[in-house]
Amino acid sequence: MTERTDLIVGNWKMNATHLDAIQMVQKLSYRLEPSDFDRVEVVVGPPFTALRSVQTVIEADQLLIKLAAQNVHWEAKGAFTGEIAPEMLAKLSVSHVIVGHSERRAMFGETDEIVNKKAKAVLANAMTPIVCVGETLEERDSDRTEHVVVSQVEGGLQGISAADIGRSSIAYEPIWAIGTGRTPSVDDAGSVCELIRSTVARTHGEEAAESVRVLYGGSVNAGNVKGFMAKRHIDGGLVGGAALDPDSFASIVRYWV
Ligand code: PGA
Repeated sequence: MTERTDLIVGNWKMNATHLDAIQMVQKLSYRLEPSDFDRVEVVVGPPFTALRSVQTVIEADQLLIKLAAQNVHWEAKGAFTGEIAPEMLAKLSVSHVIVGHSERRAMFGETDEIVNKKAKAVLANAMTPIVCVGETLEERDSDRTEHVVVSQVEGGLQGISAADIGRSSIAYEPIWAIGTGRTPSVDDAGSVCELIRSTVARTHGEEAAESVRVLYGGSVNAGNVKGFMAKRHIDGGLVGGAALDPDSFASIVRYWV
């Protein structure tokens, strides 16, 4: 059985100027021990305008914290006003890119097809996509969670090689749990993450399914993270609000303490 390293990602969303971001990553680094990084891959996702500043801090201070972008365009370059190409991120030492976050699906019209193109572009530039999936409250209440999540996983990962899936991550984020303080039970979250892994096993084979990291996201905090992390099929967390405070994010990273 593959040993999967835990992965905790802070999604800062549209928060933090580049000056705020510098302080946030420095404060976070003071609160983590070198040995924490043996157990957990720690990633922060500032807005585009702060990536270069955070990259500079990471390099200058030789931090083990990794850098994520929150979005990307799939084309390499061209007349796409306002968009950011994968290579622009890769050259800033961005290692992870969040794709298909529910806020982008709901507010910016991202479909599974777009998510799929973005995930492929991220992989083609040697970065790791964090593909987000999850149901609305209405879908949950009408017992469609499994159907929605399976089709988002299938659509988002279509045409990607098994080896690439093995180095990717999938974040299960029930939309009704994002920013609301509400969460599914750890058992429910664990079951959906298991379903995601079995879907990957069906579409891309056992090896890819054993290697892909499945994260839970939605109102993760220092108090509830340990419960989620105890589930066999949950390999980490995608954290929004609680990632903005370096103290609480550090406690989430050090969930076993
Ligand atoms: P939240 O956000 O932790 O504030 O619920 C999670 C996310 O949107 O990734």
